Amino acid sequence: MKLRPVFSVGCAVAALAVGLPAAAEPVTSADFAKAEARAVATLKQMTVDEKYVLTHGIMAVPFIPGTVVPADGVLGAGYVAGIPRLNIPALTESDASLGVAWVGGLRHDGATALPSGLAQAATWNPDTLYAGGAAIGAEARAKAFNVLLAGGVNLARDPRNGRTFEYLAEDPLLSGVLVGAAIRGIQSNHIISTIKHFALNGQETGRKYVDVKIAEGAARESDLLAFQIGIEQGQPGSVMCSYNRILGKQGCDQDWLLNKVLKQSWGWKGFVMSDWGAVPGVEAAINGLDQQSGEQLDKAVFFTGPLKAKAAADPAWAARVDDINKRVLTAIYATGIDKFPAKPGGTIDFAAHGQIALDAAKQAIVLLRNANGALPLAKSTKSIAVIGGYADTGVLSGAGSSQVQGEGGPAAVRSVGGDGPFAAFMNQQYHRSAPLKAIKALAPQATVTFRDGRYIADAVEKAKQAEVAIVFANEWRAEGLDQPDLSLPDGQDALIAAVAAANPNTIVVLQTGGPIAMPWLDKVAGVLEAWYPGARGGEAIASVLFGDTNPGGRLPVTFPASLDQLPRPKLDGADWVEPNFAGDAAPGKDQLHANYDIEGSDVGYRWFARKGAKPLFPFGFGLSYTSFAGSGLAIAAKGVSATAHFTLTNTGKLAGDDVGQVYLVSRKGEARRRLVGFQRVSLAPGASQQVSVTIDPRLLADWKDGGWTVPAGDYGFALGRNADDLGPVVTVKIAGKTWKD
Ligand code: BGC
Repeated sequence: MKLRPVFSVGCAVAALAVGLPAAAEPVTSADFAKAEARAVATLKQMTVDEKYVLTHGIMAVPFIPGTVVPADGVLGAGYVAGIPRLNIPALTESDASLGVAWVGGLRHDGATALPSGLAQAATWNPDTLYAGGAAIGAEARAKAFNVLLAGGVNLARDPRNGRTFEYLAEDPLLSGVLVGAAIRGIQSNHIISTIKHFALNGQETGRKYVDVKIAEGAARESDLLAFQIGIEQGQPGSVMCSYNRILGKQGCDQDWLLNKVLKQSWGWKGFVMSDWGAVPGVEAAINGLDQQSGEQLDKAVFFTGPLKAKAAADPAWAARVDDINKRVLTAIYATGIDKFPAKPGGTIDFAAHGQIALDAAKQAIVLLRNANGALPLAKSTKSIAVIGGYADTGVLSGAGSSQVQGEGGPAAVRSVGGDGPFAAFMNQQYHRSAPLKAIKALAPQATVTFRDGRYIADAVEKAKQAEVAIVFANEWRAEGLDQPDLSLPDGQDALIAAVAAANPNTIVVLQTGGPIAMPWLDKVAGVLEAWYPGARGGEAIASVLFGDTNPGGRLPVTFPASLDQLPRPKLDGADWVEPNFAGDAAPGKDQLHANYDIEGSDVGYRWFARKGAKPLFPFGFGLSYTSFAGSGLAIAAKGVSATAHFTLTNTGKLAGDDVGQVYLVSRKGEARRRLVGFQRVSLAPGASQQVSVTIDPRLLADWKDGGWTVPAGDYGFALGRNADDLGPVVTVKIAGKTWKD
């Protein structure tokens, strides 16, 4: 087994006590090794026909013509039949990037909506992602699901990507560590988790056919490294391959990616499931795909008859079919879904899970601007004008397969049009946690007014009458569509500018699915980035506004100052591909290419550093109501192993959280910019904490000639407040080394 745990980033793994089966704990690589031996024994007992059961499954929704969800299936994203004779359970699959999904409104049983992936990443706290994963895994069990389609970890290569809200970050270390923690939490419930979408699924525009070009070294050092770390730390039972093409081949039919990298180089023992409608033909099996998911969405069911015919004619194909079965069984046994079956009708502790969502949302909120200490607001404030963003109703969420809804369904649904069964997946939905109510609760003496913001003059009038104006500005994103630019839609920029001109104490609360532009930034007193804050988001926002929570979130993505700063100022295909959730073929689809060699592995802040470009807000940025200092950076290096030691001190008057960030800034005299370690700490006023982070040698290395190379020489490191604000450089000699995965 070549996979190994890496990094110590202070991620204590404590099994959460809420709703878990007894003795639940994360799945380890040792569990996979034992499970594989059992899988081989079961394989020997399988008949020829039984070998074509685990190879394919349906989308388990009645609205696809001809679909009948079997009696042991559960309404959700997928179903793969089991083999009762061999005590092999059916796989019952739900989408679960942010909670157990509501499947376009088909499910009415409610689930806890965690904050968006980007929000969770803004916590920089693996413990928080573990707790969220453990909670949604427990909810899945209670609803009889045993596979969660979770673990979205595509790097934010483009801030316009419509699915940025579902993913984590632009950096492979941050993304990999956090997704690993979420997967550990999910699988601690005897549930299989995926990690997805493998790989380089960097845009939604033309997602089913866009062809991504990237050199192997650049891919290994960036997007693939996020997956590699996530797999090492999380040990997911399954990898979901992606829709897009990579070097001319679809992700689910990509021999290099699935066989050579994932299975051979990384030695991963689980199974690759396809994305829904992503299988071009039976050859995908030889190219590394193990299971055809959502088979009604493909042109044919390839992984039954056609696969059987190939195996009957060719021993190499027969061996592949055995390997497929061994891999699916290994994941089943490693996670124990056969011994600890998830049953319907379980109870969910919504109060406890809501608390987990609330904690995550509070930790995630990033304070972007606080002119003259405008925030926190005094609870004695006499009058507050709340404006816009459906703040009287609930908090925004992102759309697509990851959409979750709580008990009672959405507080409000704003249709964006479309027709057919998939249109319901594409509405703007609000969770039942109204910021207005939460604000009123924390400022009981204040007169609080609300205007929806549709009429600027009316909102301005209210803002003039109040001590403080709080404008809620929303930017909705959805799977299947990218943003045309980074502006706030529906005239909200003009609304904010007008309110700010009327009231100097204007605070903007953003609910966005990714970076946005802020043309009004220096006109407003304060800005909070609340992302899509999940089931209890309204309370989290109010808690930060009034200082019950001191904001400690840090940006997991760069906010560009303009689109010109990006590697691709124009998103490939944006001018001619029709936005389409189903994302099916468009005329000229073979012409859609995305050249990731432009930036290579310099994604996000690394690109900005390479170009010397100044973003609106850098990666890692976040203010606080207190102040912090980092000091005493020392790097202990032995061979290519290095550990960073430093001290974080709360130099202000309030308790708060800081995130220590260590960056590589130079290698052998050449400038570099790379996050190599991080840790979030809570500090009382005046308190200090010593922090140590282990630096993974891959973060110092180049991938070339089929392996990693760390050149011997001087390496410069610095503590950063963020990727652009670096402390003194500490230089150490690192010994050279070359190695394979
Ligand atoms: C998405 C996947 C999802 C699947 C099943 C696809 O459209 O890309 O993330 O798991 O549908 O709903």
